[in-house]
Amino acid sequence: MARVAVVTGGTRGIGRAICETLMGDGFTVIASYAGNDDAARAFTDETGIATYKFDVGDFDATQQACAKIAEEVGPIDVVVNNAGITRDGTLLRMSYEEWDDVMRTNLGGCFNMAKAAFEGMKDRKWGRIINIGSINGQAGQYGQVNYAAAKSGIHGFTKALAQEGARYGITVNAIAPGYIDTDMVAAVPENVLEKIVAKIPVGRLGQASEIARGVSFLAAEEGAFVTGSTLSINGGQHMY
Ligand code: CAA
Repeated sequence: MARVAVVTGGTRGIGRAICETLMGDGFTVIASYAGNDDAARAFTDETGIATYKFDVGDFDATQQACAKIAEEVGPIDVVVNNAGITRDGTLLRMSYEEWDDVMRTNLGGCFNMAKAAFEGMKDRKWGRIINIGSINGQAGQYGQVNYAAAKSGIHGFTKALAQEGARYGITVNAIAPGYIDTDMVAAVPENVLEKIVAKIPVGRLGQASEIARGVSFLAAEEGAFVTGSTLSINGGQHMY
């Protein structure tokens, strides 16, 4: 039977490319999403991939949704923690809600998904947890104390959980994308984005498929010896 992969925030952007790539690799793929029903419907129509709607930042909702996925589709073998939001602004202008929304979604979501899937992976002695971090978690970014803290937290979370999962055949890795051509990056003011792209040695934004390729590498059977690592895919913008 095909292994089951759940990709959070899987209906758009990087998540969508990950879903399509993992489906091509032979996984049974499920995409979660939080709010955009129209995008989710179009995604399923175009890809045939089923979606489940829940807020990964909500612990109880995530446990319930993952239990439902396990019952309706099969035990979860691969988790791709991709769901993420931005609420950019300098510290002086950032509200507590903007801090908290980003922390609970981007970092809390990783904890909530791991809690839902890790025990089953341990029992079956096989699992892949792949966390989507960010160049901005590695290097920091003006106007993103919330996002940079959450993404940096993802990298620490990855290294700690990798140590716990190793004896059970569960690998835990992170990918740190640079600036990728998605709606999230398109929301950066044009004059700011121009300056950022000018600092990317490859000279362009990345494509979502270029991140998906890294996920495919980490999710593979042959990835069993890769754990606790961070794969930076950023066009050379930050060499870590
Ligand atoms: N370093 C130093 N100073 C900077 C700076 C930087 N990187 N960026 C801006 N400033 C300065 C400006 O020069 C300006 O100074 P002056 O007034 O003296 O000219 C001052 O800070 C205010 O700049 P803005 O006019 O841009 O301020 P704002 O309050 O309107 O906006 C902001 C601030 C919301 C942070 C805006 O600059 C912004 O959106 N920046 C982009 C942040 C970003 O890169 N987000 C990434 C989103 S995509 C993503 O996160 C995906 C991923 O993983 C890569």
